[in-house]
Amino acid sequence: MGSKVSAILGSANRDPEVFENPNTLDITRKENKHLSFSKGIHFCIGSQLARMEVEIAFDVLMDHLSGAKLSAEREWRNNASMHGMKTFLVRK
Ligand code: HEM
Repeated sequence: MGSKVSAILGSANRDPEVFENPNTLDITRKENKHLSFSKGIHFCIGSQLARMEVEIAFDVLMDHLSGAKLSAEREWRNNASMHGMKTFLVRK
């Protein structure tokens, strides 16, 4: 009773029982039951806005970074609940 439960969404999003090639970034993935915006009654109310923002951001990035390559140098965030890079370098 009264215990706290913390869901590690980043880990759930790489569940090999749910996703084929869970560690591959595949933006064309058809079956994509990820939990990034949670689920149920607390599902993120801003998810559509977030998706639009990402679409615009990628459009702008692609315009400016056409032909660019990611450098192997990158720094990962030290955060158990949100996996991601803190910085990465892009070379043209
Ligand atoms: C990539 C961007 C975003 C991600 C990954 C994200 C993720 C999440 C997650 C996981 C939850 C559930 C939290 C929980 O169950 O305790 C949530 C809830 C929520 N998010 Fe987002 N969110 C994003 C963007 C936004 C934006 C742009 C807005 C508003 C402009 C927003 C507003 C909210 C609100 C109000 C809730 C609470 C919903 C509720 O409890 O009924 N989010 N979000």
